[in-house]
Amino acid sequence: MKKIGVGILGFGTVGAGVAGGLLRNRKVMAERLGVEVLLRRVADIDIVTDRGIGLEPALLTTDAMAVVNDPSVDIVVELIGGTGAAKKFVLAALDAGKAVVTANKKLLAECGEEIFGAAERNGVDIYFGASVGGGIPIIRVLREGLAGNEINSIHGILNGTCNYILTCMEQEGVAFDEALAAAQQSGYAEADPALDIDGGDTAHKAIILASLAYGFHVPVSKVAVEGIRNLAGMDVRYAAGLGYRIKLLAVIKRDGDMVEVGVHPTLVPHGHMLASVSHVFNAAMVNGDLSGDTLYYGRGAGREPTASTVIGDIGDIARNLLAAGRSRYQRGVCVANEGRLSMRPPEEVASRYYLRLMVLDKAGSLGVMTTILGRHGVSILAATQQETTGLPDDAGFVPVVMLTHPAQSASVDAALREIMAAEVLNEEPVKLRMI
Ligand code: HSE
Repeated sequence: MKKIGVGILGFGTVGAGVAGGLLRNRKVMAERLGVEVLLRRVADIDIVTDRGIGLEPALLTTDAMAVVNDPSVDIVVELIGGTGAAKKFVLAALDAGKAVVTANKKLLAECGEEIFGAAERNGVDIYFGASVGGGIPIIRVLREGLAGNEINSIHGILNGTCNYILTCMEQEGVAFDEALAAAQQSGYAEADPALDIDGGDTAHKAIILASLAYGFHVPVSKVAVEGIRNLAGMDVRYAAGLGYRIKLLAVIKRDGDMVEVGVHPTLVPHGHMLASVSHVFNAAMVNGDLSGDTLYYGRGAGREPTASTVIGDIGDIARNLLAAGRSRYQRGVCVANEGRLSMRPPEEVASRYYLRLMVLDKAGSLGVMTTILGRHGVSILAATQQETTGLPDDAGFVPVVMLTHPAQSASVDAALREIMAAEVLNEEPVKLRMI
């Protein structure tokens, strides 16, 4: 049976998961693929820590380039992360004619054009299934299963840390900071949790999905990104009372020649399938013109789920190499729509909104606000005012929550600025999107 050699760069959580999985499932892979996949080398700056998979010490090296240049390595698996050393080694591997598997969403979102260009130039495969959705093979769905569809929209819960935090805030009534600490302890958060909670990680994943769905390189600078760092427990509670859960959603939508790509904390009705995705789980709902709604659900992070998708990619490349190196894929993303589609500016996006305003509790305040909203064409669908008289936090201001009909973001912002200037609020209003 033909043998295909794998070299891994990065022996951290996912690297150890991939190495362990390749060793454990070697036989079943050979049976399924008709080719034997062998782990040849593993590089990391730390080759002393025991990763608990019983790897032969002779396979370990601190020299990543030795792995890239090893003639017995056909597939280089990059699991270092970031855009520093990882980029250098991925480009070196592609230039050396090696197929590459990476789970590095930041690298592809920020430097995709360069990386995919190098794969194309060298005529080698680059697979990145685990860059979005961990154990959910959503990339493969877009490249293969739904390839016959025009994609109308993708709504995704793509960051396990944020989903875990939001679930804790809602189910246990804990504040944001406490929920974040619990998420970090569970090991799901990025090394820098700002990437998770400020929405950057979800944005990287949204960019990759949007590029695949719509065939052009989505510029990071054109993506509207809001995180959950400033989300108040009060809004989680009010949303729940109104029949909604707050989820950090990636929204990717096409309307004619315009594409919207954004990341926002969003109110999702309890009856919506994405509302039931809790804790560290991820999900993506893809609407194709032929398929209609389809839903993909699973563990979006963690050692073994992510390893599962990486190993799936390795298996596919092994099959390609077996078929005399003729890849069944484009080398990266298809960019047939480059220059044809453009990004919709965030202020032009229309949505329903949840607004919470801390309103001066005196006659006419409500009238001031509704008049201003009306003047900006923002129509109110529902409104509630919570009684706070006599409560410890009663400062003469009451929380008023309004749900709007669909309105342009810019119109809502203009109305809220005017309401602030009318001196009927004691703090900046909260504005959240609704699905
Ligand atoms: N920090 C990411 C998450 C890991 O929480 O989903 C997977 O990309």
